[in-house]
Amino acid sequence: MRKDEPNPLPTFADLRAAARRRLPRVVFDFIDGAAGREVGLRRNMAAFDEVTLMPRVLVDPPVGDLTVRLLGQELGLPFGCAPMGMCNLAGPGTDLALADAAARGRFPLGVSTAGSTAVEVLMERSQGRAWFQLYVTGSVDEALALADRAAAAQCEVLTLTVDTPRTGNRPRDTRNGFRTPFRMGLRHFVDFALHPRWSLGTLAAGAPRMVHFDGLRPGGYDRTAPRRGANWDFLARLRERWPRRLVVKGVLNPGDAQRLQAMGVDALQVSNHGARQLDAALTPLEALPAIRAAVGPDYPLILDGGVRQGEDVVKALACGADFVMLGRPFLYAAAARGLPGVNALVDTLADDIRIALAQLGLASVAEVGSQVLAAPAGPLPRDHRV
Ligand SMILES: Cc1cc2nc3c(=O)[nH]c(=O)nc-3n(C[C@H](O)[C@H](O)[C@H](O)COP(=O)(O)O)c2cc1C
Repeated sequence: MRKDEPNPLPTFADLRAAARRRLPRVVFDFIDGAAGREVGLRRNMAAFDEVTLMPRVLVDPPVGDLTVRLLGQELGLPFGCAPMGMCNLAGPGTDLALADAAARGRFPLGVSTAGSTAVEVLMERSQGRAWFQLYVTGSVDEALALADRAAAAQCEVLTLTVDTPRTGNRPRDTRNGFRTPFRMGLRHFVDFALHPRWSLGTLAAGAPRMVHFDGLRPGGYDRTAPRRGANWDFLARLRERWPRRLVVKGVLNPGDAQRLQAMGVDALQVSNHGARQLDAALTPLEALPAIRAAVGPDYPLILDGGVRQGEDVVKALACGADFVMLGRPFLYAAAARGLPGVNALVDTLADDIRIALAQLGLASVAEVGSQVLAAPAGPLPRDHRV
């Protein structure tokens, strides 16, 4: 998209609708779906509606500096792409498009253990911006081998996800017969035939695979297998072994946050896994103020879940986050329009943030704090309108 061309899909709703048209139902539902009745998914987004900001007037023309320093890295934007498994389901080449966008925008790209393109490839393509996300899905030795692989690939940051002792119950996946390894039934055949563009592209490129398990596990990868190997003992071993910055993702409890901080974890990702694990889990935005209070003002906190527009990023920063990640919006943008779609999403978010800064009378994203909140930060009311 040229700078002067309007973005044809300017909102999250536009992106989601376009992705829904483009993707087979089984794939769209895997990305879009969440645990249980999906109340948590709606709550994650609605939590942002409860936060209001206080504009300031007659302030000098704003600079709109969006750069941040996080975990020793200079980042071009205050947001990045959350780790997601099997991104190439959104369309062949999605992993590479996300990596190209990360290089262009100088933001981190989460690369999942369950990823569909090798971390080494994505490190190179993103110009060193890949953060490897680790699951303990099999033995502890296997997980440590994956961490060693990320270290050898020169990843600066390893993210250990700890909110999946078991994979959440996602009724849409059950209903659609989505499982790994995938077994094609008649209804999938019909679903794919109704989405020829996706199907032909995927057929030509080959069905996405969980490439990090190649040569590691002969039986292949089962996404529903328990991931209970990620416990406090494992974290202690990982902290000893992993030489660079370590993030723990999926933290909502202030007590857990303090213990993780004391164990030498470098940052936490306050997240409920996009409400894909526990429908009733509190929202990351709700959890944030208490976690910030528990870990103190200088400890890095990343938030993900329900962020859908630039103003949401500003709200998360105002409520105590240092950085924000988005999941589904990136995959919808890639499904809808490939790399141009992802770049347009990034530019729109960045623009939104600059506009919000101007309204708030701030020159840079680094200045955003609780002073921009119209009401003091605190646990949000429980009666979200969802
Ligand atoms: C399709 C999909 C796959 C995901 N796979 C992973 C994963 O492999 N590892 C992980 O830590 N989180 C995974 N997540 C969770 C995201 O990292 C992130 O927490 C969540 O998507 C944020 O919520 P949002 O989608 O509302 O932005 C996945 C999310 C989606 C939508």
